[in-house]
Amino acid sequence: MRAGDYQRVAEVGLVVRPLTETDLDAVIDIERQSYSHPWAKGVFLDCFHPNYRLWALEGSAGLVGYSIVSYQFDEAHLLNICISPASHRCGLGRRLLRHVVASAAHDGMVAVILEVRASNEQAARLYLSEGFQEIGRRPGYYPDGSGREDARVMSLSLGQS
Ligand SMILES: CC(C)(COP(=O)(O)OP(=O)(O)OC[C@H]1O[C@@H](n2cnc3c(N)ncnc32)[C@H](O)[C@@H]1OP(=O)(O)O)[C@@H](O)C(=O)NCCC(=O)NCCS
Repeated sequence: MRAGDYQRVAEVGLVVRPLTETDLDAVIDIERQSYSHPWAKGVFLDCFHPNYRLWALEGSAGLVGYSIVSYQFDEAHLLNICISPASHRCGLGRRLLRHVVASAAHDGMVAVILEVRASNEQAARLYLSEGFQEIGRRPGYYPDGSGREDARVMSLSLGQS
């Protein structure tokens, strides 16, 4: 992909808006393409709650990504961020993550925290490049075949610099 293409995909015809229950069929489709252990529809339904922020990234052809954030006291916990595999590496994940961070700051959160599978190098690179720092590990946090996989815990402070 050329630099010009990157900019075009990232900036034209895309909108971030609140996710609704009518988006869930498209969400589940992307979720199942993206994770070895996808969330069930009921898990998404449980997130339609006042202390959650659910975001849809929509292009001209429909939903291309989503994120689920839980606000716990003054911390935003990024529970899920996902871009359709057909649209990977076009800058969309970074764009949606920046929206999550800006919204959390606007809502008075002091930090964004998240867990990422130890093997998920592409997501970890995105987070680290956006200023997140690894603050610990949760051993065996994720199911992984017949075993378990560690989570890397990352945090971004939203304090004034
Ligand atoms: C992680 C994810 C959201 C990134 O979305 P994306 O739109 O493909 O990412 P972007 O194009 O915005 O890339 C941003 C940065 O992420 C990193 N990255 C993304 N894909 C990568 C890959 N395949 N290899 C290495 N680095 C990668 C790079 O640092 C990249 O910056 P660069 O292009 O300037 O090098 C996407 O891969 C995804 O949906 N994965 C499946 C779900 C998932 O794992 N979610 C995270 C759960 S913690």
